[in-house]
Amino acid sequence: MSELHTLTDEVRVGSITVRNRAALAAMTNKQSHDDGTLSDEELHWLLRRAEGGFGLVATCAANVLPGGKTWEGELGIYRDAQLPGLTRLAGALRAAGSIAVVQIFHGGYRSPSSISGQQPVSCTSFTIDAEGFEQPRELSTTEVEATIQAFVDAAVRARTAGFHGVEIHGAHTYLISQFLSKEYNTRGDRYGGTLENRYRFLSEIICGVRSACGPDFVVGVRVSPGVPMPHAGMSLAETLEITPWMVADGVDFIHLSLKEAAGTDQNDERSGAAAIPGVRAIIPDSVALLAAGGIVTRADVERTRVHGADMVAVARAAIGNARWPEIVSAGDPPALPPHSEEHLRDEGLSPRFVEYMRRWPGFVEGGA
Ligand SMILES: Cc1cc2nc3c(=O)[nH]c(=O)nc-3n(C[C@H](O)[C@H](O)[C@H](O)COP(=O)(O)O)c2cc1C
Repeated sequence: MSELHTLTDEVRVGSITVRNRAALAAMTNKQSHDDGTLSDEELHWLLRRAEGGFGLVATCAANVLPGGKTWEGELGIYRDAQLPGLTRLAGALRAAGSIAVVQIFHGGYRSPSSISGQQPVSCTSFTIDAEGFEQPRELSTTEVEATIQAFVDAAVRARTAGFHGVEIHGAHTYLISQFLSKEYNTRGDRYGGTLENRYRFLSEIICGVRSACGPDFVVGVRVSPGVPMPHAGMSLAETLEITPWMVADGVDFIHLSLKEAAGTDQNDERSGAAAIPGVRAIIPDSVALLAAGGIVTRADVERTRVHGADMVAVARAAIGNARWPEIVSAGDPPALPPHSEEHLRDEGLSPRFVEYMRRWPGFVEGGA
């Protein structure tokens, strides 16, 4: 690996110096208690990754309102009773030397009533021809404002708990993506229609968090250019249009969730070769660029960094390798799936998380 593109040098993210270039991408793991409070299992899983050398550790997507809960066992950040667990988590991750970030999110139409206890909500009341789809109710303008405030309140809770920052989940077809979507967000008020209007929901969240949490609090946004329809999302071209707006609103980092961050196909908007240089070219050096998607090996790290990413974010490879940054930096090969249940337990997963991972094709021996 060339000196310029190692994992091991420090990097600045907002007001903070991160010890290396490795980020643990947000991963839903179903290990929280039913009331959204932290469990020992969730703490253990994340702490093992902080101890394994990840410079930045993001929690799973944590819901900012009960109506935005999308999975059983999801971490919540919508009420103060969740603060003691969040405080314990932030303290542990900090003590292990990582930058601790909560991913804040709302599922929108993807929050099933069986989980949230409410009819799903979204930018509009659209219909998608998909199994299990529940038609969402359109949020009123006042409710949109209250939802923005819920994101801001969640970030304030994260700061109170001792987290360094938040990652606003604008990716993967959840509520923020639904607002950004030209297909679904045909609202007639200031939050719908034109791209400027569709961006306003995210813009007011970024600005609200920045103003409530101060200049030193790390604020990032995760986006997933080119997530295919039918769902909700944005093309790379639209992502590039809103990128300078996110910078102007005060983000410290932008996190690209891609199909293949190390990919070489410049014509595929979900490949690092297209998305990473495109975004890097239009953001200042003071804004860090993270990229995720298919990063496993040292060669993947190098290619992703050569594309222009300041940090590489890793999900599945980190499940099978708690010490992934150390392993890859040493030039050793990471363990590859399918993993045995015993291996995953050794890497700090609870039986519940292992069970969840059985749904991922080829990940757990004997699973899907
Ligand atoms: C078990 C699991 C849970 C995930 N949960 C989240 C999540 O809560 N928030 C999010 O933004 N992405 C989530 N993702 C997507 C990952 O962060 C990442 O973008 C994706 O897995 C591609 O990276 P990888 O190839 O390193 O796994 C999840 C992925 C997995 C495997």
